[in-house]
Amino acid sequence: MPSEKIHEEFIRVRGLVKYFPTDQGLLRAVDGVSFDIFRGETLGLVGESGCGKSTAGRCLLRLIEPTKGVIEFEDRNVTTMGKGELRQLRREMQIIFQDPNASLNPRMKIGDIIAEPLVIHDIGTKQERRERVAWLLGKVGLDADYSKRYSHEFSGGQLQRIGVARALALNPKLIVADEPVSALDVSVQAQVVNLLQDLQEEFGLTYLFISHGLAVVEHISTRVAVMYLGRIVEIAPAFDLYARPLHPYTQALLSAIPVPDPNAKRERIILKGDVPTARNPPSGCRFRTRCPLAIDECARIDPELREIFPGHSAACIRVEGYSTARPIESLVTPAV
Ligand SMILES: Nc1ncnc2c1ncn2[C@@H]1O[C@H](COP(=O)(O)OP(=O)(O)OP(=O)(O)O)[C@@H](O)[C@H]1O
Ligand code: SF4
Ligand SMILES: [Mg+2]
Repeated sequence: MPSEKIHEEFIRVRGLVKYFPTDQGLLRAVDGVSFDIFRGETLGLVGESGCGKSTAGRCLLRLIEPTKGVIEFEDRNVTTMGKGELRQLRREMQIIFQDPNASLNPRMKIGDIIAEPLVIHDIGTKQERRERVAWLLGKVGLDADYSKRYSHEFSGGQLQRIGVARALALNPKLIVADEPVSALDVSVQAQVVNLLQDLQEEFGLTYLFISHGLAVVEHISTRVAVMYLGRIVEIAPAFDLYARPLHPYTQALLSAIPVPDPNAKRERIILKGDVPTARNPPSGCRFRTRCPLAIDECARIDPELREIFPGHSAACIRVEGYSTARPIESLVTPAV
């Protein structure tokens, strides 16, 4: 039985495509990705800058309109829903951005920033909102008195806590955390990550946690999806991905993480060249121009994601077992 069925699919994304028209032609930011997010899990989404992580995350909430594909949230079709339904959905899905400074209005008091989603959705009286803001500030480890202050009075870590409080205001089910700690000092990154984990446990939240590198998401992810140039090239339970990465790109990303044990040697794989432009991706496998294992066939075959081990899929023709493995999309029932 395919592993997907063990978990409850909370979000299903099938064939998601987002193209941006530009002066130099179509930019294929997200070019056909399919994945599930299970209830209560953290799915880490990892890849180099520009590979389409934020675009995919924003499409989930329809903050940007997908070009093609289907997104389902608890069996509701996000891609086709009208304004009213989308408004309801926005209560259930929230996003936390990388730069808390840029995402919080400097002219608004912290209390008003956190209460804004409640005001927009017309929830509670003024007094009830004030009480909820105080409660939310407590939940993210901040003093309730901070509600009267402005964002310039706070450190990056505190601002990100405020961003988290704002995201929690409407009691969401899913939070897309788009590199929530990348802009913070290393010393406070772990605190914010721990806070997100505590809140996940307390409120049964589901996270899509976006990150540049595999190191950040290692300890918080239930599963990890690795993106390259608009595609998911590997997806697996976290322990499995770190223990036996299958795709050469994942292997290279992993090899860049320092290993604390000096006896457990990991040879660094240096990738040649830069990421090709998403306006004109290479023919066949998109990774072939940088892949240490590329062969002639890789220029002709555009590999699909196939399940190599239960729940562990990769898109590379040179992975052992790839030729007989089933494509990932055939393992799940199509959207109704
Ligand atoms: N509104 C837009 N118009 C045109 N191109 C865009 C737009 N938004 C994103 N892009 C392009 O789409 C591609 C994917 O961008 P995206 O922001 O999703 O990448 P990312 O993986 O989140 O990168 P980063 O790690 O730098 O945040 C990039 O080439 C980017 O320049
Ligand atoms: S299909 Fe070929 S180029 Fe692509 S990752 Fe596999 S070996 Fe490398
Ligand atoms: Mg991004």
